[in-house]
Amino acid sequence: MEVERTLVLVKPSGVARGLVGEVISRMERRGLTIKVARMLRVTREMAERHYVEHKGKDFYDDLVEHITSAPIFAMVVEGPSAVRIVRRMMGATNPLEAAPGTVRGDFGLDVRRNVVHSADSVASAEREIEIFFPEGGEPTY
Ligand code: RTP
Ligand code: MG
Repeated sequence: MEVERTLVLVKPSGVARGLVGEVISRMERRGLTIKVARMLRVTREMAERHYVEHKGKDFYDDLVEHITSAPIFAMVVEGPSAVRIVRRMMGATNPLEAAPGTVRGDFGLDVRRNVVHSADSVASAEREIEIFFPEGGEPTY
């Protein structure tokens, strides 16, 4: 299995509910490494870059509004097949399909306030890391 890095966000809905530690803890217990992390307020420009693939969809405005509404917690996470491993840990977008044992399956009911985001491919991860960690997302220690 190839070691990959991925981007994980605890969205405003997750931060407000005090789920940052829970999300970190699950990834640590799985054996993944948190490489860098920061709490930040997303600007409109960052949100538009991040969600460019959804521009024009009926939920787009709500998506941008929500992610810019309050602080998020962003992380670069590394491990074997990290992109797919983390996606499976986060669970399906639709809470009706999110399996129990996943973050969304355990903590989500609303598709638009589904606690977390994770990149859906290695290419997306690299593109998104650049938005939230413009210095490259590599540790400085
Ligand atoms: P994410 O990007 O947040 O990890 O989620 P995802 O890949 O599972 O889902 P995606 O299709 O990329 O959608 C991005 C976010 O948009 C919101 N959404 N709302 N029907 C709806 O109202 C709807 N569909 C998607 C969700 O917050 C989703 O995480
Ligand atoms: Mg997505």
